[in-house]
Amino acid sequence: MKTRITDLFGIEHPILQGGMHFVGLAEMAAAVSNAGGLGIITGLTQRTPDDLAKEIARCKDMTDKPFGVNLTFLPSVTPPDYPGYIKAIIESGVKAVETAGNNPAKYLPALKEAGIKVIHKCTSVRHSLKAEAIGCDAVSVDGFECGGHPGEDDVPNFVLLPRAAEELKIPFVASGGVANGRQLVAALALGAEGINMGTRFIATQEAPVHHNVKQAIVDASELDTRLVMRPLRNTERVLNNAAVERLLEKEKALGANLKFEDIIGEVAGVYPIIMQKGEMDAGAWSCGMVAGLIHDIPTCKELIDGIMAEADALIRQRLAAFATA
Ligand SMILES: Cc1cc2nc3c(=O)[nH]c(=O)nc-3n(C[C@H](O)[C@H](O)[C@H](O)COP(=O)(O)O)c2cc1C
Repeated sequence: MKTRITDLFGIEHPILQGGMHFVGLAEMAAAVSNAGGLGIITGLTQRTPDDLAKEIARCKDMTDKPFGVNLTFLPSVTPPDYPGYIKAIIESGVKAVETAGNNPAKYLPALKEAGIKVIHKCTSVRHSLKAEAIGCDAVSVDGFECGGHPGEDDVPNFVLLPRAAEELKIPFVASGGVANGRQLVAALALGAEGINMGTRFIATQEAPVHHNVKQAIVDASELDTRLVMRPLRNTERVLNNAAVERLLEKEKALGANLKFEDIIGEVAGVYPIIMQKGEMDAGAWSCGMVAGLIHDIPTCKELIDGIMAEADALIRQRLAAFATA
């Protein structure tokens, strides 16, 4: 399939793997890229810019295909060495960057000068328009369904995507809630030129996480996620577990007085314990409602080929039949 997104990133299929903390390692990105999508290494999972450079080099050993790096700009008291990470990305020769969180304007000139295509992840039309205005090449429009941070507007993709289509000139992908070919076709109909998936890619053979994480996603239904940290205006969609229930109890009890320190035990530093050790109740971890549509643990190639075959059949048969009826 050819779209402005496949052209932009030089990939075969319009399928991106969103950055995921402690999931987006070289193995994940290489598997997605080798299957014809765009794999993404999560920059901040690497402790230093030097570690990121090494992770990119490791990925290059595993694939000749294009892959990207995610850089998430979070509000923080002691921010990571963003200029160092940007330098590592540019010097590595990677040609695609997924930015997320705060406005990436400060770093765009350097990235563009290096010929890097930038896709910014946004949860609203106004942020998407801002991304377009500052010179991003594309937007990943992340609906309320998404795993991770859906923002505070709560607009699901059935409205958000066609709204983005009304306003944006640059291409965009549908992010959040996507797992199959049916949804790829829907996303294309709603104006997107591809899809970005997070949760679905965790439940694959190559995802470098403990089997318990993959099984938890397969076992979960679309009713099993919760929104946490809403009182802090840092809402995150996570899979429900004992730690999340404890966290929500604290949110309820403390109301508007809740501070980050009150929930630090449930959210800080929990990713390695969950993703690598498979201790599923160790804390809150991002997971999308799309878990309800995930029933197996295929290879990335089986997953992507399956999505493309399903989409192709739907377009040629089901939709074509409606068009002529
Ligand atoms: C476990 C997990 C960790 C994530 N970590 C990040 C991250 O560090 N930076 C980021 O920009 N997005 C992150 N995301 C969001 C994904 O890149 C993607 O936008 C989201 O998962 C899409 O929704 P879906 O899970 O319904 O496919 C994460 C998502 C998950 C599930």
